[in-house]
Amino acid sequence: MELTLARVKKDRQINEFIKQTNHYLKELGYTDHGFRHVNIVADRALSLAAKIGLSKKTGELAAIAGYCHDMGNFLGRTQHHYWAAMLFSQIYIKEADPNDLSTIMQAIVNHDKNDLKLLNDVSAILVLADKSDVHRSRVLEVVKNGNMDIHDRVNYSVTDSDLFVEKNKKIIHLFLKVDTKVTSVLEYFEIFTERMTFCRTAAEYLGYRFSLEINNFKLS
Ligand SMILES: [Fe+2]
Ligand SMILES: [Fe+2]
Repeated sequence: MELTLARVKKDRQINEFIKQTNHYLKELGYTDHGFRHVNIVADRALSLAAKIGLSKKTGELAAIAGYCHDMGNFLGRTQHHYWAAMLFSQIYIKEADPNDLSTIMQAIVNHDKNDLKLLNDVSAILVLADKSDVHRSRVLEVVKNGNMDIHDRVNYSVTDSDLFVEKNKKIIHLFLKVDTKVTSVLEYFEIFTERMTFCRTAAEYLGYRFSLEINNFKLS
């Protein structure tokens, strides 16, 4: 059986894990890790792989990993990447090609900051697609005039985000528009320096440079 994103997206069990994850993390006050996030990560993984000239297969595997990477959260946040990989294998271990299955599992585990290792292109694409999803629409609970926590505030401040590939110059650009009435660029970095470093490491693994531009200022 060939694993495809279309097939995985139709899997009732996988979709239930994603639904439960979003519910669980919403209760804990996290930003969106549900269908909005995983669909963005899957689509971004697919298009990023195509834009930098990787094979269709690599893009498909990265997109599947993207759709499933956060679905273990409903069993616990700190180990969510392991849970997700294990749940994925439970569903597909009998049918999927062993190499495809292992590659996806490994990418899922490696997307977390505590286990970030880049051993193949699929993992690197997933890191870029996941860590670049910073946007106002990720905030689940908008507290007007009130005290949003710093993660919500920083995500809420990003009104526009675009991942763009300049293939001839070998640069992956992340353009962000930050509403400085909501947060300062400094606060943005307080939260996202680590994420941006992961993006840079992943881009370099793929033979690209990572460039970050906020409000028309080139920061790297
Ligand atoms: Fe995650
Ligand atoms: Fe994620």
